[in-house]
Amino acid sequence: MKILVTGGAGYIGSHTVVELQNAGHDVVVVDNLCNSSEKALKRVEEITKKPVKFYKKDILDTKSLDKIFKKEKFDCVIHFAGLKAVGESVAQPWRYYNNNIAGTLSLLDVMTRHNVKNMVFSSSATVYGDPAFVPITEDCPKGQCTNPYGWTKSMLEQILTDIQKADKEWNIVLLRYFNPIGAHPSGLIGENPNGVPNNLMPYITQVAVGKREELGVFGNDYKTHDGTGVRDYIHVVDLARGHVLALKKIKDKSGLSIYNLGTGKGYSVLDVVKNFEKANKIKIPYSIKPRRAGDIDECYSSAKKAERELGWRAEYGILEMCRDAWNFQKKNPNGYDD
Ligand code: NAD
Ligand code: UD1
Repeated sequence: MKILVTGGAGYIGSHTVVELQNAGHDVVVVDNLCNSSEKALKRVEEITKKPVKFYKKDILDTKSLDKIFKKEKFDCVIHFAGLKAVGESVAQPWRYYNNNIAGTLSLLDVMTRHNVKNMVFSSSATVYGDPAFVPITEDCPKGQCTNPYGWTKSMLEQILTDIQKADKEWNIVLLRYFNPIGAHPSGLIGENPNGVPNNLMPYITQVAVGKREELGVFGNDYKTHDGTGVRDYIHVVDLARGHVLALKKIKDKSGLSIYNLGTGKGYSVLDVVKNFEKANKIKIPYSIKPRRAGDIDECYSSAKKAERELGWRAEYGILEMCRDAWNFQKKNPNGYDD
């Protein structure tokens, strides 16, 4: 298939471009590089030995998108482009709603005009809010999000659902990611956050590389086996492969489909620290800090639907996730900046 990958220079996008190219798809990337580097795409080319066609454009720029669609004749769009920092979204809600929602509406407008009615969308387990039950199945009701970023995902799911309901020519796959971590085993591409990392694994790797003194563990009084928050961490390469398999639903013209992409296993913050230490033989100093606002006890998936319907299951375990996250960090102590 000829596939437009929006946000393809980013963390999950770049890993997905690798898997798409490896599977023989023809990939074009649109990214405004607001949270990424073009170097990631050069690294993708190094891995796959195939060129990546790239347009540095904003998805809000409808006119430029229109020109790209006229020229490229896509079969499908995998839509990653969006802002994703939870704290920033609380401070700058308009920017998040504009970029994520207006940006997607601009993209949908161009897709409709060019009759490209196939999309795989990056959603998040955050749409479940404080989940009604665990393991979370796709039937679990959506919940109250605790921040504007989460609402953009929840609202975009609704918008896409309504669009598909109104026009059955649309095929849309909503992929709800749990907690992607790790990096390509080559160590050439990986997660490269700006400033102080918000998420657990990049914080741990920055402690390991000596950039931060110790990890703050946000709360040890949750209702979990050791009191620290439990999440479903998934290797980013497994997640990327989930996108390639989701294309099956597009090919089959399946209408609207929703899948969790997780491993089905929950690990606490301290479990992750211990596994990181074991995988990499590096001590991670930490201290217990107060809870972070909006955090929940536990969040892990039932990944059975994706296995049953897409033939997808996570191959990598927590030790490999920790190994590959560290491999990327140690080979690229300053991310993509030399
Ligand atoms: P990322 O920031 O690394 O990638 C997003 C990419 O989109 C970046 O390269 C950025 O430059 C680009 N972008 C943002 N706004 C754009 C715009 N207006 N026009 C063009 N390009 C734009 O993030 P990621 O971790 O790779 O996440 C990819 C997608 O998956 C996002 O939509 C994110 O919300 C979603 N998601 C991520 C996680 C996670 O833990 N990383 C979890 C659930 C969902
Ligand atoms: C967060 C976002 C979620 C987003 C996801 C992936 C919140 C409330 N949720 O999920 O919307 O989709 O990232 O980007 O921010 N932790 C520490 N110390 C740290 C960092 C994290 O103890 O320095 C703990 C957290 O309290 C949590 C676990 O580690 O229990 C995982 O945190 P994180 O990586 O930020 O992911 P989520 O909170 O699950």
